[in-house]
Amino acid sequence: LNTWQIEETTFDPKSLHVGETIYTIGNGYFGTRGSFEEGYPGSTEATLLWGVFDSVEISKEELANVPDWLTVRLTVNGEHVRLDRGTILEFRRTLDVQRALLQREVLWRGENGLTLRLRSERFASLVNEHCGALRYSLTVEQDLPEAVEIEFWATFNQAVGNNNLLHWEMVDQGKEEASFWLHSQTRHSFVQLVQSMRLNTTTEGFEQEVLDLAGGIRLYGRLQVGETLTVDKLVSMYTSLDDGEPQANALKDLGLERSYYTLLGQHEQAWQAFWQQADILLEGDDKSQQAIRYNLYQLRCNASAHNSRASIAAKGLTGFGYDGHVFYDTEIFMFPFFLYIQPLIARNLLLYRYRLLDGARKNAQLSGHKGAQYPWESASDGQETTPTIVPQQNDGKPGLVLNGLLEVHISADIAFAVWNYWQVTGDDAFMRDSGAEMLLSTALYWSSRATYNSEQKRYEIQDVIGPDEWHIHVNNSVYTNAMARWNLQTALSILDWLQNDAPARREELVARLDLNESTLQHWQEISSHMLILQDQKTSLFEQFEGFFKLEPFDQGPYAGRYSSYQALLGVDPLQTHQIVKQADVLLLLTLLKEQFDLETKSANWQYYYPITDHDYGSSLSSALHAILACELSLCDVAYDLFSEGVLVDLENRDADSARGIHLGSCGAAWQAVVFGFAGLRFTPSGYTTHPCWPKDWKRLAFNVQHKGQNVHVDLRREDT
Ligand code: BGC
Repeated sequence: LNTWQIEETTFDPKSLHVGETIYTIGNGYFGTRGSFEEGYPGSTEATLLWGVFDSVEISKEELANVPDWLTVRLTVNGEHVRLDRGTILEFRRTLDVQRALLQREVLWRGENGLTLRLRSERFASLVNEHCGALRYSLTVEQDLPEAVEIEFWATFNQAVGNNNLLHWEMVDQGKEEASFWLHSQTRHSFVQLVQSMRLNTTTEGFEQEVLDLAGGIRLYGRLQVGETLTVDKLVSMYTSLDDGEPQANALKDLGLERSYYTLLGQHEQAWQAFWQQADILLEGDDKSQQAIRYNLYQLRCNASAHNSRASIAAKGLTGFGYDGHVFYDTEIFMFPFFLYIQPLIARNLLLYRYRLLDGARKNAQLSGHKGAQYPWESASDGQETTPTIVPQQNDGKPGLVLNGLLEVHISADIAFAVWNYWQVTGDDAFMRDSGAEMLLSTALYWSSRATYNSEQKRYEIQDVIGPDEWHIHVNNSVYTNAMARWNLQTALSILDWLQNDAPARREELVARLDLNESTLQHWQEISSHMLILQDQKTSLFEQFEGFFKLEPFDQGPYAGRYSSYQALLGVDPLQTHQIVKQADVLLLLTLLKEQFDLETKSANWQYYYPITDHDYGSSLSSALHAILACELSLCDVAYDLFSEGVLVDLENRDADSARGIHLGSCGAAWQAVVFGFAGLRFTPSGYTTHPCWPKDWKRLAFNVQHKGQNVHVDLRREDT
């Protein structure tokens, strides 16, 4: 098994869409699904650019699929070459994650009996994030008396949408020397996009024609048997959201004397540098080794190193699932990978939230609160974009979605990432200029969201949805209350820090956010008296008020099911039962790990682990559970959970990979290896490890960045 490559040697049209997701390439500026250049009936080709949203009904905005830059239309002796026609004699598709290069080779026989070998290779440049490059070649394999006529037409296909919804209209198109360009705009948000392309071939005897009216570039000529035509299609894309004028930028990019080879060379070097920092060496288990590399590849493909307005959607730029919206998946599940591997990207992810503070303030106002309430689903302006109504999974009838209103823990989750960023990088300037304002504004939100119960003399947070989304309208979710308390305490401590390190900034923030002494005392009060439901005898946290009184849920009758309990039974029956969608109390014990002892962790694990839907609840939580399992020395259980997470897309385990990569799960897989199996912890006196070895693992090695230093961890199993 080549652990740097994902490969398939047959083509099954039934897994067309899953394959498109798996073979996605990207660089954070754009992502392009692994569709075929020649097109295929029913395909969902997509190139998504971070930040390019357009309005839609119900989910408000979505990333707008741009005209397809891969498109090639090929005719040989008048016959249209497409894989749904003729016969596929051989097929091989390889994604080399080390070089971030996708290759495909097909031996194809047309209906007229002509046999061709088609090769294609593509990448999304990691060096120039605006550039995509495609090399396409075809060889006539068969013994024919005469040369064959080839027509190769490369264009931007405008007939692609988000599931049939077309977001773009053409503004203009034209040519400039050997380049063709297309200017489009989104129908509602009026983002301007210019895509330009150029074709290069070294094969002799082919003419090129730039088609400014029909659109694209046409190449035609004759090929002798045994000869190969190789064409490079170089593409550049800029939008009005980028600095500068899109058309001038896009044409300038191609005007530079760039060849496919030079672009590829630079791209490979950049990926090599990434892997030097990011690779995880995992000896003894090739399947996991391959899968973890694939997960890290996807994380990198979906994060922009150059844009501090960019975040990562739940499915990144790899598919239409969740409309390109950003959830807590980013801060809680993916963020730690960037924090320890590429802190600059981690910083960008936080700056995305910082820039959207005003939107979060509006959300708070709308719900009658102070401070900043980050949206459960976030897109371009920080306002809530969670759809309010969707077809229910069990019966397809319209069902209300309350997460936008009630899943408020996200504000504390973002604060948590801000704090960790500062702890791990020591980037004081960031904390002073941006982070502190986020911590204080979210604390302000919590202080107005918490209510005082004068009878019980405690603060409560009513009517929320916790990470376990199967229980709605719950009171005093332990996760939410504990994270809110943490947020308030941390905000107070950051004011102390500002006092010493940046008094002027403190003064400014205190004045602007109106944080007078009584406000701060109130924060202190809430933190000291926040209700955290826990049975002192058993150490068990009660997920929310009344959870322990709900009926037990018998999972026995559902053995062999293919979907989640909510999809099978509907929303209502789950409300009255103790069945949990995903890590909730256990997520809290994992995030605030220093606050809880091993006994508490163990007791809660024993209670919550068996009543969680690990198979179909949420793909986010399997790999994450592994961290706690390792802490409790349950190495085999941890391994199974990790496998479930790290293979969720490669094996389409949730049967929904067609909608895009589960990037939260990719991030959780990295955390499982580093914090779980290696047991890495940073303490004031250095770092410690505490390995938990799955059966076959023999060695685990990786790097992390800590306070600007590279830390190399290399663990070998003693008994091997
Ligand atoms: C999960 C959430 C997650 C969202 C996006 C939901 O199914 O329950 O925790 O944030 O998907 O991945």
